[in-house]
Amino acid sequence: MASGFPLAPLVAIAAIVVLSYAAVAAPAPARRGFNVTTLSFDEGYAPLFGDGNLVRSPDGRSVRLHLNRYSGSGFISSDLYQHGLFSASIKLPSDYTAGVVVAFYTSNGDMFEKTHDELDLEFLGNIKGREWRLQTNVYGNGSTSRGREERYLLPFDPTAQAHRYSILWTSNTIIFYVDETPIREVKRSEAMGDDFPSKPMMLYATIWDGSTWATSGGKYKVNYKYSPFISEFSDLVLQGCRMDPIQLLPLDEQCADAEAELAAADYARMSPEKRQAMRKFREKYMTYSFCYDTLRYPTTFPDCDIVPSEQRRFRENGDSKIITRHRRPKHRNNNKFSNSAVDSERQTDI
Ligand SMILES: *[C@@H]1O[C@H](CO)[C@@H](O)[C@H](O)[C@H]1NC(C)=O
Ligand SMILES: *[C@@H]1O[C@H](CO)[C@@H](O)[C@H](O)[C@H]1NC(C)=O
Repeated sequence: MASGFPLAPLVAIAAIVVLSYAAVAAPAPARRGFNVTTLSFDEGYAPLFGDGNLVRSPDGRSVRLHLNRYSGSGFISSDLYQHGLFSASIKLPSDYTAGVVVAFYTSNGDMFEKTHDELDLEFLGNIKGREWRLQTNVYGNGSTSRGREERYLLPFDPTAQAHRYSILWTSNTIIFYVDETPIREVKRSEAMGDDFPSKPMMLYATIWDGSTWATSGGKYKVNYKYSPFISEFSDLVLQGCRMDPIQLLPLDEQCADAEAELAAADYARMSPEKRQAMRKFREKYMTYSFCYDTLRYPTTFPDCDIVPSEQRRFRENGDSKIITRHRRPKHRNNNKFSNSAVDSERQTDI
């Protein structure tokens, strides 16, 4: 929908918005780690669907997406980006959220139906007392028959307060972040070929009814008695090279600068400390990895870095053996959960 929209006037309007905003409040530096500039909703995004269910805050710097029995809702970046940092602080709906999906992702599926690229952060709701799960995925050039899903629990209650979630995409690496912790890194390689996203993408944020699959493979559906389900997005960040949607050429003369800035940014560098933090996160919270799902993929992917010590912790269907009820109490002390349901039954979703 954003393609074909005249962009020049939009840019001019955005510039005016920036100016008038500056008079009221300086651009807010993003909290928690990253040195990035946050945008107001109108500076970088537009409603995508369910307009009536998209509610901006009075200052325009955050937006709430509602899901009720009539509709979900979503927004989209006004521009396409060839590489970038796509980030937001997100607070998820609490209480009974089975079947609810909150997605924060980049895609170009509207422009390249058969050869689209996509990077996913998807939050899968749950029945009362059970944790939300986070799923990441990577598609390149229409590699939809090769899902690269990973799923994780979170080390905090994502409904209690907003946390920053980010997707970094450069020409040779993809890093997913939860707050300042990298949770997944995908490095471009020859062998991965076009499965590594290569074409410009837009940022999407949506809330929708995923009753057919989101919770225990569709066993638990959305219960609208608990609606509206509200997800709040703030600290909005879009950083990278903007592209013309028609010609797919850089909009900014300084695209090389944008690329260089991205590549040099702290969030693009994997220090030994960050690698260690990522390894720890994955050890503690990863509940599924496509790399260890030998039932689904008898031949592993070239981008899978099979770590024998890690592999031992997974079943042949890719599910973690470790993150089960037996180990849950150990995690209780350092997070906010006190739900016995989690302990009494292993997560058996999809
Ligand atoms: C944050 O980024 C700006 C420009 O991108 C830079 O001038 C500033 O020094 C950075 N601040 C820190 C603390 O790194
Ligand atoms: C993507 O797939 C199409 C069709 O299979 C192919 O023609 C193209 O070369 C591939 N690579 C890119 C980067 O588009």
